[in-house]
Amino acid sequence: MKAKPAETGSLKTRTRSDADRSSITLKNRSTGTQQDEFSPIVKGERFYLREVRLSDVNERYYRWMNDPEIVQFLESRFVPRSMESLAAYVRHMDGNSDELFFAICAIDGDEHVGNIKIGPINWYHRRADIGLLIGEKKYWGKGCATEAIALATKFAFETLSLNKMKAGCYEMNKGSERAFEKCGWQQEALLRDECLMDGRPVNVICMGITAADYREKVAK
Ligand SMILES: CC(C)(COP(=O)(O)OP(=O)(O)OC[C@H]1O[C@@H](n2cnc3c(N)ncnc32)[C@H](O)[C@@H]1OP(=O)(O)O)[C@@H](O)C(=O)NCCC(=O)NCCS
Repeated sequence: MKAKPAETGSLKTRTRSDADRSSITLKNRSTGTQQDEFSPIVKGERFYLREVRLSDVNERYYRWMNDPEIVQFLESRFVPRSMESLAAYVRHMDGNSDELFFAICAIDGDEHVGNIKIGPINWYHRRADIGLLIGEKKYWGKGCATEAIALATKFAFETLSLNKMKAGCYEMNKGSERAFEKCGWQQEALLRDECLMDGRPVNVICMGITAADYREKVAK
């Protein structure tokens, strides 16, 4: 049996802090129309995080998950994904308090540009992994991962009250490593020949940030 958050039996009551609840009005770039106000779960300057919906399982998401360049450093590259398997994954994640799956969306234009996951969460140690994918390549190198990681890190420490976050990056995935560093994460270990890429051993860098690091260096 998995441990649950200590203070409440239900995570759902704790996932949105009042500070993050402020609603925003999105302007749809293509139509120029104002959309209804809504409450993103976590809102940044240029991007916001919301739940991944079944309606997100579309040609766009399918394209991301089957693009060799996008999945080259992800374990998902080993398993081809059909629309049905993507939908099953999204259904599995919906309401799952041990793995929180967020869509990364641009505030300007409301485009769904990637996904970020906090989890699995170990509630005994209040520790979680984080993984992300920026699927829309036109956003690469423009600070999207950095902002998404910063938002997920804030949510993990300030809303979920976790004590530690960690992530693994293939050593050659410099963009990912750097994005974590820019959010106050640091390299904790290098796992030699941890994975195989096209049959060749590659090192994996373990990145981490503690709640104490976050309080001292990021949230000040
Ligand atoms: C890797 C990835 C997350 C980077 O996202 P991004 O939005 O392009 O990253 P950012 O724009 O926030 O850039 C962060 C930093 O990395 C640098 N960077 C980005 N891509 C880089 C690359 N390919 N090589 C070297 N540095 C890179 C940026 O210049 C920036 O550093 P700087 O501000 O000091 O110049 C994105 O390319 C991606 O999702 N790739 C596919 C899936 C993946 O690899 N996920 C990560 C698994 S751990």
